[in-house]
Amino acid sequence: MTAPAGYALRAMEASDYDEALALWQACAGEGIGLNESDTRPAIEGYLARNPGLSQVVHTAQGHRLVGAVLCGHDGRRGYLHHLAVAADHRRRGLARSLVQAGLDGLHEMGIPKCNLFLYSHNHAGRDFWIHEGWAARDDLVVIQRGTDSPPPPVRS
Ligand SMILES: CC(C)(COP(=O)(O)OP(=O)(O)OC[C@H]1O[C@@H](n2cnc3c(N)ncnc32)[C@H](O)[C@@H]1OP(=O)(O)O)[C@@H](O)C(=O)NCCC(=O)NCCS
Repeated sequence: MTAPAGYALRAMEASDYDEALALWQACAGEGIGLNESDTRPAIEGYLARNPGLSQVVHTAQGHRLVGAVLCGHDGRRGYLHHLAVAADHRRRGLARSLVQAGLDGLHEMGIPKCNLFLYSHNHAGRDFWIHEGWAARDDLVVIQRGTDSPPPPVRS
């Protein structure tokens, strides 16, 4: 997968962390949710666990990071997180190239489908995914629990 003219696409590296975090923070009001899994060691661990799948795009001149996506898999399904493109570089095909590079990597690894989480209030993000041919599964909900939360009381 190549980036649109004027940009360079490559796999994300641990050294991209500061710039990627700054981009995600700039997009926090638009649907990028940052939490305890976005610390430097957590992202380094994610990249090490999923080598070559997460992507970044830089301007060819200036080498500014203007797009990023985390991509990984659990052996059954692929997952995308934190797709973001800097506001002044949107609508140039950067998100499409980031996503396609991740999907290509998953496909080569034999992962047949890819999922992502989208805030229900992120209407622009949803429009993007639908435009790109992704299907919103309205028959599914995300169910979550902290791994350190106490178990429910035993019934007597
Ligand atoms: C959503 C986002 C990643 C799109 O990035 P982008 O680089 O502008 O997208 P692309 O240029 O690759 O767009 C690919 C196609 O989708 C279309 N598109 C882009 N954003 C769109 C939107 N909000 N609604 C509808 N279509 C959209 C483009 O026009 C293009 O289609 P075309 O080739 O037919 O013209 C970017 O707007 C962003 O970072 N938003 C904030 C963070 C976010 O919401 N991320 C997704 C949640 S996980």
